[in-house]
Amino acid sequence: MTLFEERLGLEDYIPVLRSSFQIEDEPTIEFQMAGDALRKLLEDQSVMMRVLELLAHDIHFVREQATNLFNNEIVLWRDPDGSFSLRMAIWAEGADNFIHDHNATGVTGCWFGKLLIENYEIKEKISEDRVKLEMKDKHILSPRNVVYIKMHDEGIHRIDKAEGDFAISLSAYSRAVPRGYIRRFDAITGAVSRIHHPVRKQKEWAQSLLTLIEKG
Ligand SMILES: [Fe+2]
Repeated sequence: MTLFEERLGLEDYIPVLRSSFQIEDEPTIEFQMAGDALRKLLEDQSVMMRVLELLAHDIHFVREQATNLFNNEIVLWRDPDGSFSLRMAIWAEGADNFIHDHNATGVTGCWFGKLLIENYEIKEKISEDRVKLEMKDKHILSPRNVVYIKMHDEGIHRIDKAEGDFAISLSAYSRAVPRGYIRRFDAITGAVSRIHHPVRKQKEWAQSLLTLIEKG
């Protein structure tokens, strides 16, 4: 049986990426090393084509992606040692392109088309669910260009296609800190909402049910 990483053609890239991430108490990343490693993978469009083929024709592969947090996110690799994950995203009409933060730090690059990255900062924290948000800077990435993504307040961003019908991004993210949700921001109203992983509710329900049933 072919291993998943071999099937996608990732096996040459994983060891270098892995060494860019440290598994300490706090997830850390060697930005320069991770950026260089990701750039090598971004030069290899055959990996991207294999993923697109699987998405287009392999129902099992598509089903594995069904519970991702964003509707345009495809998880290519979760390192068994928990140090990092590799995620591709397709930017098209209808893709989840809202402003958000992350519980992880990482690098994001352009694999296809032109990618728009907008970085935001909180100018004023009005309450837990309302802030004053302002755009800090904006980048347009061509294929093989990478940017670094920080976590929580330091890395609030929005990604989208910059032009045309499609763009593809590839990101390597560190292990997430255990917060249990990411935040979604509305730039106009300043509303902040929490987005939980879709299976989180099922986990909570099952834990409550087990306690209830065990109590008799
Ligand atoms: Fe993101």
